[in-house]
Amino acid sequence: MKFKATTAIAALAISLPALALADPDDDTLVVNGEIEMITKTAAPAHLSDVLDEVMSGWHFRSDETQVMQADDFDNPGMIYTEQAMDDWNTEMGTKGKSCASCHGDVEESMKGVRAVYPKWNDSKEKVYTIEMQVNDCLTDGMGAEAWKKSGARMAAMEALISVQSRGMPMNVAIDGPAEATWEWGKELYYTRTGQLDLSCASCHEENYGNHIRSDHLSQGQTNGFPVYRLKNAKLTTVHGRFKGCVRDTRAETYAPGSDEFVALELYVASRGNGLSVEGPSVRN
Ligand code: HEC
Ligand code: HEC
Repeated sequence: MKFKATTAIAALAISLPALALADPDDDTLVVNGEIEMITKTAAPAHLSDVLDEVMSGWHFRSDETQVMQADDFDNPGMIYTEQAMDDWNTEMGTKGKSCASCHGDVEESMKGVRAVYPKWNDSKEKVYTIEMQVNDCLTDGMGAEAWKKSGARMAAMEALISVQSRGMPMNVAIDGPAEATWEWGKELYYTRTGQLDLSCASCHEENYGNHIRSDHLSQGQTNGFPVYRLKNAKLTTVHGRFKGCVRDTRAETYAPGSDEFVALELYVASRGNGLSVEGPSVRN
């Protein structure tokens, strides 16, 4: 691991001493005593110039927070999957259909889905997030209103969908038709923005393991999303988190659901290829 302190970073009071203490731990995560999570693994090939190992954000949290994720009864994010299960089975919209009408049992039909999203959608000819697909299903498939992007109801459905893939390694495709979007996401990841002139990489690639405003900086992986944040006691989506991070650099932020955030989501997800799907995970 290499640590670079830039002036802008210094201005944010990242503390560089005590690196040993700040290093991510070596704990292992097994959920419900049965789902073994890959929380550290060799970095995917496209990152080999910059990182040896990729790690889940779980490693950077306190023991108290970590343990909440080891058992579904202690994981406050799991309650939302029950709400989403009601939505799954409820007829909505003018066509009198529920999600289950077309997809049947969520445990069967949504298995593996979270691990491969964002994903190229052939008929729409663009990269699709799970949110975009759910909204298409609602409007076109059911004749219902789209849900608010990154809103509470959407986040809960994403949690339910994610649970069906827990433990499976993230495996988003970055070649073929998705490549241009992935390249754009990569560019956004390394672009310095805002008054503080920071990129995602300034914090999550060059300074993970360090402390920033008393928070322990992770690699900014998305395999744990949606995450239940203890701080605001609700689920946060990937785009919700991106928005907060961009705002912290004092930049104008892109909106959840924007093309920019979709591209960034694909790129960031690809940085975590090989890490287990964890969502809903627990974070501070
Ligand atoms: C009228 C039928 C219909 C209904 C109702 C419906 N969907 Fe879909 N859904 C589809 C079709 C068709 C696809 C595309 C399948 C494909 O391309 O693999 C799809 C795909 C998806 C996918 C992506 C699966 C994948 O493997 O990429 C998700 C996630 C999804 N739907 C969620 C939902 C949710 C949540 C609801 C309820 C709010 C819902 N769907 C309701 C027809 C429906
Ligand atoms: C000023 C430093 C900073 C910058 C710049 C920054 N972040 Fe973050 N980010 C944080 C902090 C602090 C957290 C919370 C602790 C952690 O998980 O790293 C966080 C958390 C995250 C998480 C959640 C990780 C998890 O496992 O819960 C993601 C994803 C993320 N950031 C993505 C990004 C992206 C994408 C960008 C660029 C648009 C970005 N961040 C820019 C500081 C930053």
